[in-house]
Amino acid sequence: MDLSFHYRSLINSLRTEFHEQPDLAIVLGSGFGVLIDSLNIIRSIPYSNFEGYPQTTVEGHKGVLHLAQQSGKKILIFEGRNHFYEGHPIEDTILNVLITRFLGIKNLLITNAAGGINQYFKPGDLMLIKDFSYLQLKKEMSELIGQITHEQKNNFAGMPSPELNQKLEEAALKEAIPLRYGVYWYVKGPNYETPAEIQMIKRLGGDAVGMSSASEAVMANLWNINVAGISCITNFAAGLSPQKLSHDEVKETANMTAVNISKLVNRFIELL
Ligand code: HPA
Repeated sequence: MDLSFHYRSLINSLRTEFHEQPDLAIVLGSGFGVLIDSLNIIRSIPYSNFEGYPQTTVEGHKGVLHLAQQSGKKILIFEGRNHFYEGHPIEDTILNVLITRFLGIKNLLITNAAGGINQYFKPGDLMLIKDFSYLQLKKEMSELIGQITHEQKNNFAGMPSPELNQKLEEAALKEAIPLRYGVYWYVKGPNYETPAEIQMIKRLGGDAVGMSSASEAVMANLWNINVAGISCITNFAAGLSPQKLSHDEVKETANMTAVNISKLVNRFIELL
């Protein structure tokens, strides 16, 4: 599929609106919207103002594009993403990355809420993503990518950018924020996992589980965009605590972690 053709009028209008080439794009996950308050926002435009921009339906994903100016850098922020579990076609789930590419932005920070699997993780922790597993999306992604060249295949190695991860680690150190480190395990959703599934993912090497981000990271790699990801551990994954999982808990924990998230991202922008 020729994605640039599919979204051509949307991309053209975004190019007109955001002609100043930002240094960084950030995709905000559930509950990360609070980060907006800590940034120097110069422009905010709802996705609905752009014809052809698919609408977000999940609570906590507002659907607003922001431009911020911070520490001498310009940052484009996607407040809200489209998930596969909402029924969006796979191409809509990576639209934010496609826009990042066509605006010529070289760095992408992905954020998300995730359930903690690693026994040392607890709600409120921030996890730097060491790698992604997207087994459940392999089929959809291969259809999306179509005929990739051998050269492009090489881009799948080592997903998160070591340089950006190092800057996130440095930012965390400077802000005295403990940072976990682990594998983000993508699941399709829309329902949370069963305890048995969590045990399986644990044995296979997953440290945290979530329903987004993996497709974004794959495409960023393919298009040579430096990508890094931060998960907010919002809950113990299914079966690891007696508490029933809920989207409200996910949002609440992400909100409680807001101060740390904001400090980390602000310092990261400074170091970029
Ligand atoms: N599972 C899947 N996705 C999630 C979770 C979870 O436990 N928490 C936040 N997003």
